[in-house]
Amino acid sequence: MGPAGAGKGTMSDLILKEYDIPHISTGDMLRDNVRNNTELGNLAKSYMDAGNLVPDDVIIAMVEKRLQEDDCQKGYLLDGFPRTLVQAEAFEKIENKIGKPVECVIALEVGFDTLVERITGRRICPKCGAIYHIHNKPSKIEGICDVCGSELTQRKDDTVEQLTVRMDGYEKSTKPVIDFYDKRGIVSYIDASQETAAVFEKVKEALSKLK
Ligand code: AP5
Repeated sequence: MGPAGAGKGTMSDLILKEYDIPHISTGDMLRDNVRNNTELGNLAKSYMDAGNLVPDDVIIAMVEKRLQEDDCQKGYLLDGFPRTLVQAEAFEKIENKIGKPVECVIALEVGFDTLVERITGRRICPKCGAIYHIHNKPSKIEGICDVCGSELTQRKDDTVEQLTVRMDGYEKSTKPVIDFYDKRGIVSYIDASQETAAVFEKVKEALSKLK
């Protein structure tokens, strides 16, 4: 968990290199739906472009369906979910149903100025989802994905205006979710303003406490 640009996607990619579990990013799933012009994508697009949260019922149904797929039997990595208390409470029922409760919550903490720098410099590959940054993690050839050779793009919601809206939503709706998990004693708070490798060391330390 963490605000927009904290490094959730970046850390998820690194975690996946060490753990053979599926990466369930609600943001990526929604963007796939928008790209493929699905009914869900068309509904979600206006919320996402404005930096607002997509309605809870849509998100809950999408995640519930995904978590019932076979590859989640060995565990899962959630990125960007749950983001509201309604989602967290609905997810509690899903956790019980699939018999795989959340064991660790990583809360990435970063100040606003660093988030602005990360969000405005981010470039993504629309095809394979690889994440770059014009200064912190440039692609080898400017504007081209190292992994699949596609042209890199900027997300529509990666502007300072939208970041302010997303931060507001994070403070109001998502921080209470971190408190919800804190009461279970499973949250690791990490200073994510450091460079990527240093943040990942802390993430690994938190995950090493798992069974
Ligand atoms: P989502 O895609 O989840 O966006 P977000 O939470 O705003 O987070 P970001 O993807 O912007 O940032 P990140 O933390 O993954 O950072 P990254 O690793 O890319 O959601 C998008 C939208 O979908 C939402 O606004 C909402 O509308 C909707 N949505 C999604 N889930 C929802 C839900 N559950 N309920 C309702 N609506 C939902 O890093 C950012 C940049 O910084 C990159 O360029 C990276 O290279 C760089 N960087 C990362 N870490 C470091 C570091 N340590 N040092 C230097 N640079 C770094």
